Amino acid sequence: MEGSKRACAETTHIVMSEDINQLGNLHGGTLMQWVDIVGAVAATRHAHTIVTTAALDSMDFKHPVPLGAIVTLQAVVTWTGRTSLEVRVDVYSEKARSEKKTRTNTAYLVFVALGYDGNPQEVPEFLPETSEEKLEYERALQRREERLRRKNAGF
Ligand SMILES: CC(C)(COP(=O)(O)OP(=O)(O)OC[C@H]1O[C@@H](n2cnc3c(N)ncnc32)[C@H](O)[C@@H]1OP(=O)(O)O)[C@@H](O)C(=O)NCCC(=O)NCCS
Repeated sequence: MEGSKRACAETTHIVMSEDINQLGNLHGGTLMQWVDIVGAVAATRHAHTIVTTAALDSMDFKHPVPLGAIVTLQAVVTWTGRTSLEVRVDVYSEKARSEKKTRTNTAYLVFVALGYDGNPQEVPEFLPETSEEKLEYERALQRREERLRRKNAGF
């Protein structure tokens, strides 16, 4: 994220006993809530108004995250439309006695900016600058097409 002007957000948690499932690992639903919140913070910082979650792309849980692990979530805006914007959230897990960080998840979310009347409101345009941002922006357009196809198909 260094050097980038795009809106971002970061949160860090320690996995506590109330966050785990029967196997002693972080509950998937809890992680999804953390993802949604940090994504909303980045989106709000970009939109300068309240946002609501319109879509969360599929989320794969590649590695279990155990009790006591340090979990860092990093969110960045990747694309903007007229009233909606896409945010990528990367999740990293770190054991207490090791400096090694493992990326456990990446999720893409779409938020819609809302005005005081509760209706969608225009967002400032995000213009990608670096080659990485431009590539991700192009891919975001493809992801948007797929989401709108799903929406128009009625699910
Ligand atoms: C999100 C919501 C405000 C969109 O309302 P809508 O009537 O579809 O509004 P619009 O048709 O004007 O769409 C607004 C924007 O959202 C985008 N959008 C709407 N549904 C989308 C979806 N499923 N995936 C991706 N983008 C979506 C539209 O493409 C449009 O983007 P743009 O202005 O950048 O082109 C509405 O569906 C809603 O309130 N959903 C519930 C949100 C919620 O409660 N979230 C919390 C989790 S339960």
